[in-house]
Amino acid sequence: MPEASIRPARKGDASAIAEVCYRTGFMGEDLTGTGRFEDPRLFALVFCLYFAWFETEHCFVAEADGKIVGYIIGSGRAESFAADFDRRMLWRIALRLYAYTSWRHPKAFREVLYWRRHEKASSPPQGYRALLHINILPGFQRRGIGSGLISAFTARLEEEGHSRVYLETSNHNLKALDFYRKLGFEELERRPEAFWSGVDDLESITMGLEFRSIE
Ligand SMILES: CC(C)(COP(=O)(O)OP(=O)(O)OC[C@H]1O[C@@H](n2cnc3c(N)ncnc32)[C@H](O)[C@@H]1OP(=O)(O)O)[C@@H](O)C(=O)NCCC(=O)NCCS
Repeated sequence: MPEASIRPARKGDASAIAEVCYRTGFMGEDLTGTGRFEDPRLFALVFCLYFAWFETEHCFVAEADGKIVGYIIGSGRAESFAADFDRRMLWRIALRLYAYTSWRHPKAFREVLYWRRHEKASSPPQGYRALLHINILPGFQRRGIGSGLISAFTARLEEEGHSRVYLETSNHNLKALDFYRKLGFEELERRPEAFWSGVDDLESITMGLEFRSIE
């Protein structure tokens, strides 16, 4: 297995980030063949391309043998993220749905509505101005890449004057929960989650990390 190295992302990494996103996007597992979000491009527009295109400075990738095998993406502007996302991405999502996805995958419109309802019900925890998403391909997990990506990301945030970051995961993503707890993240909120339909006892968990003391 080749060694992976971590570097700041470039705009040209967006497609590779989208691929990793899809292959790890169903609560940490591959979406391929699940019958959910069958259009990977639509999924990427909803979950990762905003960051890769418009907040590239808050994205890092892990590369092995010239191939992107993992990433951390996020925002340092959590307070305006929702409005920025809507302005830049909603028309792209609508266009994709109208011109492609709805015709081929009839469930797509409903899936986007589910996501939207969930987004509308979420807001940054008080005192948190940065958020993140982290995903690593299966064959490259448990090799320290996730820890390295978190370090690179929090170092960047610290340079910008941040002291905390938050993320959202679920009670079904046991790998991620162990990982976040090991790195010092603490649970901030837990609530019933309607985003993935047909998953029993699903809860959404918001976790936060304080990575430097506030003066
Ligand atoms: C969760 C994830 C980011 C962890 O990244 P990683 O590179 O595998 O993690 P690391 O190798 O840096 O692990 C650091 C520590 O976290 C804990 N940890 C990580 N993965 C774990 C697992 N599967 N089970 C138990 N503990 C785990 C361990 O304590 C580990 O230290 P150790 O290996 O010395 O015991 C990665 O598994 C992943 O991308 N999963 C799929 C996508 C996903 O779920 N993303 C999060 C969505 S909210």
